[in-house]
Amino acid sequence: MRHSRIAGLGFHVPDRIVTNDDLSRWMETSDEWIRKRTGIEERRWVEGDVGPAELAEPAARKALAEAGIDAAQLDLIIFATLSPDINFPGSSCLLQARLGVPGVATLDIRNQCTGFVYALAVADQFIRTGMMQRILVVGGEVHSSGLDISTRGRDVTVIFGDGAGAAVLTAAEDKDQGRVLLDHKLHADGSQHDILMVKAPASGLNPRLTQEMLQNGDHYPHMVGQAVFKQAVVRFPEVITEVLAANGYTPADIGLLIPHQANLRISEMVARLLHLDPDRVYNNIQRYGNTTAASIPIALTEAVAEGRAKPGDLVVLAAFGAGLTWGANLIRW
Ligand code: COA
Repeated sequence: MRHSRIAGLGFHVPDRIVTNDDLSRWMETSDEWIRKRTGIEERRWVEGDVGPAELAEPAARKALAEAGIDAAQLDLIIFATLSPDINFPGSSCLLQARLGVPGVATLDIRNQCTGFVYALAVADQFIRTGMMQRILVVGGEVHSSGLDISTRGRDVTVIFGDGAGAAVLTAAEDKDQGRVLLDHKLHADGSQHDILMVKAPASGLNPRLTQEMLQNGDHYPHMVGQAVFKQAVVRFPEVITEVLAANGYTPADIGLLIPHQANLRISEMVARLLHLDPDRVYNNIQRYGNTTAASIPIALTEAVAEGRAKPGDLVVLAAFGAGLTWGANLIRW
């Protein structure tokens, strides 16, 4: 039976650090409010015209270098993002051009905070069937250019950061090689798409963007924060338990949980509900904010570099976000 293994990891964030105090100069907020409600201390925001494909390039090159693979050897590039560089074509095409590998297949995934979890599951299927051997999976976002930095947007704007993370998956015949993807569980509930969304520009509106929409701030993200929070603390434990149970495990078997970095309070509550000690849950939202599809590959890369995932550990990646979408990947490290 063929499996996929994570042969390389990498991430890249912009140099510019935006602290909570910086934000409180532009809007009515405070370091105390942001830390207490979200755990976030600072985030990285791009300067000038930088899109997610540009952030993804160094992340991808690091992951390829660790895997010992040349970009030209890739069969597919999957790019998970909710903030594509342009409306079309997808950021996977732009990243492929940056890597200079015409001919390599590309695919964009639009599943918001759960994008990387879905992308890993999709990549794993191509490798398991034998159709492909080497796949680059990227999560990359630039939020900062699409946030309302006035007090009107403060509930959303303080949460989000920019960044990119990447994993290179290769085919493995032997499960014991480690870093092997075991299973995935994926879910969605589109009936609640409006509790976290950007309304405009929209193909379903004619015209797609008006001066009135701009004045209303319809081009900025809108979130019913408490509704998102309440769903998240149910769906995270549910899908983590589901992927474990399907493989004969329980939360007690988790070596390391890497939750999508939505909000430190959500991650802490999920850990409590699953009876996991804090040392078995990785969090870096304090330094990067919520980078949606990029948060899991950034956190996984840092966790591995810090030695938090030991060979043989059961590692669970789990996410919840707009869509609504949620899911989990089970990995034997
Ligand atoms: N700074 C200061 N005050 C703020 C603020 C900010 N950045 N954002 C909102 N407030 C104010 C509100 O205006 C409100 O004031 P009021 O009581 O005078 O009306 C008050 O704080 C409470 O707002 P509320 O929205 O009820 O706060 P909350 O306790 O729900 O916390 C979130 C807000 C966004 C931190 C919280 O709902 C959350 O984390 N939700 C999940 C978000 C998430 O994870 N999103 C990503 C999905 S993957």
